[in-house]
Amino acid sequence: MCGIFGMIGEHATGITLQALKYLEYRGYDSAGIAIKGHNGINIYKSVGRLHNLEKNLPNGLDSSIAIGHTRWATHGAVSTDNAHPFFSPDKCFAVVHNGIIENYQTLKKQFCSRGAVFTSQTDSETVAHLLQNNYSDSVFGTVLATANSLVGSFAIAITTAYDNNLYAIKNKSPLVVGVSDNGIYLCSDIRCVSHWASKVAVTPDKTVVVVGRNGAHFYDFNGNPIMVEFFTPERAEEMEQVDGDFMLKEIYEIPSKIRLAKAGYFRDGGLKIDAERIKKLSRIYLIGCGTAYNSGLQVASVARKYLDLDILPVIASEFIYDNYPVDGNTLALFISQSGETADTISAVERVRDKGGYTYAVTNTSSSSLRFKCDGFVNIYAGGEFAVASTKAYNCQLVTLLLIILDIARIRQTVSENEYIEIVNGIDKLPVAIDQILANSYEIARIAESVKDSSAVFYIGRTTDYPTACEGSLKLKEISYIHSEAYPAGELKHGTLALMEKGVTVVAIHTCDELSDKMSSSVNEVVARGASVISVGPGELADTSIILPDVHKALYGIVSVVPLQLLAYYVAKRLGRDVDKPRNLAKSVTVE
Ligand code: F6R
Repeated sequence: MCGIFGMIGEHATGITLQALKYLEYRGYDSAGIAIKGHNGINIYKSVGRLHNLEKNLPNGLDSSIAIGHTRWATHGAVSTDNAHPFFSPDKCFAVVHNGIIENYQTLKKQFCSRGAVFTSQTDSETVAHLLQNNYSDSVFGTVLATANSLVGSFAIAITTAYDNNLYAIKNKSPLVVGVSDNGIYLCSDIRCVSHWASKVAVTPDKTVVVVGRNGAHFYDFNGNPIMVEFFTPERAEEMEQVDGDFMLKEIYEIPSKIRLAKAGYFRDGGLKIDAERIKKLSRIYLIGCGTAYNSGLQVASVARKYLDLDILPVIASEFIYDNYPVDGNTLALFISQSGETADTISAVERVRDKGGYTYAVTNTSSSSLRFKCDGFVNIYAGGEFAVASTKAYNCQLVTLLLIILDIARIRQTVSENEYIEIVNGIDKLPVAIDQILANSYEIARIAESVKDSSAVFYIGRTTDYPTACEGSLKLKEISYIHSEAYPAGELKHGTLALMEKGVTVVAIHTCDELSDKMSSSVNEVVARGASVISVGPGELADTSIILPDVHKALYGIVSVVPLQLLAYYVAKRLGRDVDKPRNLAKSVTVE
C-alpha cells in the first residue's frame, strides 16, 4: 500500500510533509522524505507516525524538490531500514514506491550475484538499484529502461542528482499529477493533491511522467509522448482537528450523512442506467472488500425479496480469480468507500472484459474506481478518517437500497406502495439512530463486561447475519479481540465447541418471524457458559440493547450502530489506538 508524494516548486519540503499527513491513512508504519538541495539528495526517515519524522528533521530544510512516502509494510518488517525513500548505491537516485514489484526477487538475485548490497528487505529498493544499473547519459532513457524491467503494480517517484526533474513510473497503483502556479505535484491521491493543485490528471497505466519546471510530460513505456487530460478537481474537505477520536465523531455523523446520501442520490438523477438494460439483466454482483463487502452482503439479503434475478455479493479478491459468470446481462456494483482499493479495481476489469456493466458506488467522486466504471453513484458520507469504516457503511446501505429499489421498480418486482414505504422509511432512520446514540453510555457500560472476553461471536439470521459480520469486523480490527460472525443456525455445526465461560455472544434479532429460532440459539450458548448481549426490538437476553422500530428492509442500517459503538468503547477500554489500529491502513492499494 503506502502513499507517495513528490513536488517541484516553492516550499517543496513543507508541502511534502503536509501531504504525507493527508496520506497517512494509506499506511503509518513509517514515513520518509528525500530532499534535493545544493549538496545533493538527503534522505530522512523514521518508524511510526509522521510526527516521529518531523521531530527528527533538522531545521532549515526547505527546498524546491522533494519526494515523500508513508508506508504500510508489505515486504520486510516495520523498521527504519525498510522505510522509504531508498537511495541507489551511488546516491544518484532516490525513490519512493507504492505497490508491489512482483519480479523483485529475480532482479535482486541478479544484482547480488554481481556484488550489490541491499540495505532493506523491501521489493522497492530494487528500483533504486535498477536505475543506477540502467544509467547511461539520459535520465529519461534510464527511467524508461527501468519501467520496462518491472513487473507488478507500481507508482514510483524518483529524484536524481543528474538533473532537476522529477520522474514517475506508473502501472496499476494510483498516480495523480497536479499543477498550480506554485508547483507541480505527483501524488497517490487526488483528494490530497487537490489541496494545492488547480488542475489534475489521472495517469494511465504503463506511463512514465517527466516533471520539470515547465510542466509535466507523459510517455508510454516505449518513450512515445501521450496526451493526458487535466481537469479541475473537487476540493477535498479539510481534515479538521477533533477533540476525541475520529471514529466516534464519524459514528455520531451517521444520522446527518444518511439524509445526505438519500438527498444526493435523487439530486444526482438516481440510478442513471438505461431501463432497457435493467429489464434484460439476469444477475447483479455486489463486489467489495471488508466493510464494503459487508454492505453488499446486507443489501443482497434484503434485495432477494424485491428482485427476480440472481443477486450475489462477492469478495473482490475472490471475484478476480474465480470463475463467476459474466455476460452482457450482468450488472456489477463495485462498492468502495475510498474508490482506491486494488482488489475492487482489479475485479472491474474482469467484468468489463466479459461485457458486463460496471457501476461504482463510492465516497469519492474522483477516485480511480469511478473512472474505471461505466456508471457511478456517490454515497455522500463525507471524509472518513478513522481507519475503521462506520458512517460510510450506513451510507452505502442507503444508496445500494435505493439502487436496488429503482431496479425493482423498472422490472416491476416491487409494488409502488412498498417502494414509497421504504424510501420514506429512510427519513425516519436519523431519529431512530439518534435515540441509540443518546443511550451510548449504556453501550459504554456493556463494553466494560465485553473487554475481557476471550472471544466474541456475533450471530444473526438472514438480514441480521451481514450485520453480525460487520459488528465482528469492527470489534476485531480495533480491539484485537478474536471475533467471528456466524449465521446463528450454523453454530451447532461445529462452532458451539468453542462456547464456554469467558466467551461473549452478540445476538442480533431484528426479524420477527425468526425470533423463536434466535431464542433457541441464545439458550444453546448460555447453556455452555457464554454471556449473551442481544440487539433487537425486544429482549432476548439478560443484557439487551433495544432497537427503535423501523421498516424491516432498513433494519441493517440501524442495528449496526450499537455494534459500531460497542467496538469503539471496548477498544477504548483496552487502551487501543481506535483511529489507527495496528497493521491496518485506510486504503488498501495492493492486491
Ligand atoms: C473496515 C474497513 C475495511 C474497508 C476495506 C475496503 O472497517 O474499513 O474493511 O472497508 O478495506 O475499503 P474501501 O471501502 O475503501 O474499498
